[in-house]
Amino acid sequence: GTCILIGAGMDCGKRRRGCVMGPDAYRTAGIAGTLADLGWRVEDRGNLDGPAWVENAPAGKVHARDETIFWTRQLADVAQITMAEGFPVFMGGDHALSLGTVSGVAAHAAAKGRPLFVLWLDAHPDINTPESTVSGNLHGTPIGYVTGQPGFDGFPTPTAPVPFENICFIGLRSVDLPERETITRSGMTAIDMRQIDERGIAAPLAEFLSRVEAANGLLHVSLDVDFLDPSIAPAVGTTVPGGATFREAHLVMEMLHDSRLVTSLDLVELNPYLDERGRTAQLMVDLVASLFGRRVFDRPTHSHS
Ligand code: ARG
Ligand code: MN
Ligand code: MN
Ligand code: MN
Repeated sequence: GTCILIGAGMDCGKRRRGCVMGPDAYRTAGIAGTLADLGWRVEDRGNLDGPAWVENAPAGKVHARDETIFWTRQLADVAQITMAEGFPVFMGGDHALSLGTVSGVAAHAAAKGRPLFVLWLDAHPDINTPESTVSGNLHGTPIGYVTGQPGFDGFPTPTAPVPFENICFIGLRSVDLPERETITRSGMTAIDMRQIDERGIAAPLAEFLSRVEAANGLLHVSLDVDFLDPSIAPAVGTTVPGGATFREAHLVMEMLHDSRLVTSLDLVELNPYLDERGRTAQLMVDLVASLFGRRVFDRPTHSHS
């Protein structure tokens, strides 16, 4: 297949800067060559343009609403178009880019008459809205937006809201009170670190993948660097202790590859300014490699477990 790399150095989803350098850190870590070595045709479409420098909003106020609206429109268009051409990999940029990528991918799925499922690998559920957010940082709102929650004044209305039941969070360990209420009320699949400790990471993931397969769904994966434990992935502004281990993260990616269900990917929140000799960028590229088919041995049969 064809993998299409799209740089989106969106940096206005929060106040701390540096994610603008993310796309080039992935390139420096060899993402294109890695995918080509796995047999993929790779097209690097370069970086999208966006508002470069944004003045910080006062504490508690929504930060960079207009800039985020610009990115959301642009990325929704690009995502919808690119889905028809190959497998898009959105190299962020902070997690506010998923307002655009997920809503664009959802529009594509709806046009194809296929349901869209979303796997959210993150310490946070990012299901705030501009009304519920305490920080004012819109990188905490993409799931609120794509599920069609109110409060996103001035944003394009998502043409194909993603149903709550089609979303699976894995890795949660930092959830705001309004977020917890929405998750509890909506019946979303929310795998927190305690469940991973008790059941392992493979069983809940396999259950979700079975649902996607049974529904003939498309699957979008959004990988936030802070899904990973900060000891292996320091280059992120919102580190939370107790994250996924190296082996848990690779297993998730290997299972996703074997499922053949994934059709688009976000790589978000990498802040190269906070990295240590590129180790976080390199780990993210190695995880992408596992998702795109790198393995030690072939498995005898296709299986989710
Ligand atoms: N829930 C917090 C907030 O709304 C943290 C969000 C962190 N999100 C992220 N994509 N790193 O500000
Ligand atoms: Mn996130
Ligand atoms: Mn996060
Ligand atoms: Mn299968």
